[in-house]
Amino acid sequence: MPHLKPVGKKVIAIDGPAGSGKSTVARAVAARLGMPYLDTGAMYRAVAFAAMRRGVDPEDAADVAKLTVDLSLKVTDRVLVDGVDATIEVRSPEVTRAVSVVAANPGVRRELVRRQREWAEVNGSGVVEGRDIGTVVFPEAPVKIYMTASDEERAQRRSQEMLDMHYDDVAADIARRDHIDSTRPVAPLAIAPDAVVVDTTTSTVDEVVELVLRLAGEAGLV
Ligand code: DC
Repeated sequence: MPHLKPVGKKVIAIDGPAGSGKSTVARAVAARLGMPYLDTGAMYRAVAFAAMRRGVDPEDAADVAKLTVDLSLKVTDRVLVDGVDATIEVRSPEVTRAVSVVAANPGVRRELVRRQREWAEVNGSGVVEGRDIGTVVFPEAPVKIYMTASDEERAQRRSQEMLDMHYDDVAADIARRDHIDSTRPVAPLAIAPDAVVVDTTTSTVDEVVELVLRLAGEAGLV
């Protein structure tokens, strides 16, 4: 994919699997630094939601890629898909089940990565979280964090968010998504060689936030 302008020079990239604590940390860091925040997972979820809403099979790669290019999508603290507020729906078990196959679609990724770079260019700086932010979207980001936690801890955290799902189902769903996300041919979940790996199994949110703020300071972002 051509990457002509290094628009990520002021980006803090936070990657990691589901339940690693990235969203909580990314939001807190953005608030502390007064930087905009982008949840790229919400963008993939929005595409899965749009496909389901329009009766397009999420497995139909060509149709889903086509839909993505035309999709009106706004991700802030709300998720607006074609002008409809889908903030709650994009977190539903149905969307969560369909999203990995949508995120493995190269046409979808091409379009969403293009929009993510455009977002960074327009905003000038930001905290961006996802799976491929430090590896593919902004390889030039001066701060890259890869957050992780034990499988049990991640499933535990997610099951507290998904109150209508059983722990065992949440754990199985996370394991399934981890597998698809890290084995897909295009932009798999991976640790960038220059990323700082943070295991959040036993650390508090505040500790991780302070670490990221220190790294941002050292990189001259603050
Ligand atoms: O972080 P999340 O659970 O909301 O992400 C939803 C899905 O999107 C997940 O299966 C991984 C995928 N994703 C991705 O492939 N690349 C990103 N940059 C962000 C999320």
